[in-house]
Amino acid sequence: MTARSCLSIILAAGLGTRMKSDLPKVMHEIGGLPLVGHVLKALQNAGSDRISTVTGPDMPALENLVHELVPTARCYVQSERLGTAHAALAAKASLEIPADDVLVLFGDTPLVTSRTISTVRQALQNGADLVVLGFETKSPTGYGRLLAKEGRLVAIREEKDASEAERQITFCNSGIMGFSGKHALSLLTAIGNENANGEFYLTDAVEIANKRGLTVAAVRGTEVETQGINTRVQLASCENDFQRRMRLEAMESGVSLQAPHTVFFSHDTVLEPDVTVEPNVVFGLGVRVTTGAKIRAFSHLEGAQVGSGAVVGPYARLRPGTVLGADTRVGNFVEVKNATFGSGAKANHLSYVGDASVGSKSNIGAGTITCNYDGYLKHRTEIGAGSFVGSNSTLVAPVKLGNGTFVAAGSVITDDVQRDSLALGRSKQVVKEGKAKRLREKLKAAKDSKS
Ligand code: UD1
Ligand code: CA
Repeated sequence: MTARSCLSIILAAGLGTRMKSDLPKVMHEIGGLPLVGHVLKALQNAGSDRISTVTGPDMPALENLVHELVPTARCYVQSERLGTAHAALAAKASLEIPADDVLVLFGDTPLVTSRTISTVRQALQNGADLVVLGFETKSPTGYGRLLAKEGRLVAIREEKDASEAERQITFCNSGIMGFSGKHALSLLTAIGNENANGEFYLTDAVEIANKRGLTVAAVRGTEVETQGINTRVQLASCENDFQRRMRLEAMESGVSLQAPHTVFFSHDTVLEPDVTVEPNVVFGLGVRVTTGAKIRAFSHLEGAQVGSGAVVGPYARLRPGTVLGADTRVGNFVEVKNATFGSGAKANHLSYVGDASVGSKSNIGAGTITCNYDGYLKHRTEIGAGSFVGSNSTLVAPVKLGNGTFVAAGSVITDDVQRDSLALGRSKQVVKEGKAKRLREKLKAAKDSKS
């Protein structure tokens, strides 16, 4: 398969008016990745060596996004939206360079897997000239129906052009098609626009190929992976299916999820085997959790690495740039941002640790705050190994605490603390013996005199 060259064209010029959004439809996200990004990822995994994307004239942000995700991808602009076949032909220049396989996919169908794309390519390799990826669904409304006769795919009928009988068909077009490179351009150019919408329909390639005596095949995908997104409701339902897929993959790879349906993943979340995740945890983009770590309930992680044996939460928030070493503890109501914790370091309760490094086996007491921001710039706090920061301490950055330092509870630390030193940054305690009792008597007398 890898020996075959493969051009893929992703159609993404549609405005997606039913989304009621200023954002191009395919830039809406599933699992934190724009829809088109999912398609790009699947294509790369399926070995497509050339990828072209067709965008609208008013979508520079989409072009930038595509280039960011796949720098070698080409972008073509469809200047008028005259239908899916017209869109595919916007990439004519790429079609003129020979390829063994030509795939046309929709940017609004994000869950297609690389395995299914490979099945389409396999059918081409087996000799088909045109392959359509279809799926069975109980709710076919809105999809093109696949008209099959004696096992052959005869035509695809769009909903608007379908007869009452054809509308009863539940075998539908996913929009993903494979062409043999020899015929792709000539089939696409032969498509006309005689239909209810007056659009150039990609789906008409099927009838034309049949008329030419070419081999047309349909392969079956699942409804989940072939669902297209036209509305916000479909976006949410697709997200739901994506999350279910991520949870299953995590569990199959050895991760324990106590309440899978309450754990939310990003497309790039990496949880190693023997990680345990308690209920109600959200993994934002860029999280990696090493084997043996435990993420306790109601935690929110983003851009964070968690070392083996670490325990995070319950109710912890890890923000981008967090690196927790092995056997660390970040407990309830602790927020960590752009900070590293050496192995065995702990911040168990109610703290903010930002732009900081915490040496191994150090303990950050409850209520410790690193004051990293002066309203203009961010500054770092460095805490050496084996240090102890007493509860309710304020570390005003930039500040360094050496190894083995001890900060007295309630301190405000503005100056560096040398190795093995004790720092007290609080006002001295004053005790007046018997004064509380005398004060109470005085206050009571004042109250009694008024009544
Ligand atoms: C299309 C298919 C339908 C299929 C369904 C699957 C056609 C004619 N219909 O219908 O058979 O069941 O997808 O989801 O192909 N686009 C452009 N330029 C255009 C028109 C569309 O780039 O001029 C892009 C859109 O951005 C989108 C994709 O093509 O990514 C599909 O277009 P859309 O309008 O969503 O087609 P559907 O009505 O869903
Ligand atoms: Ca669609």
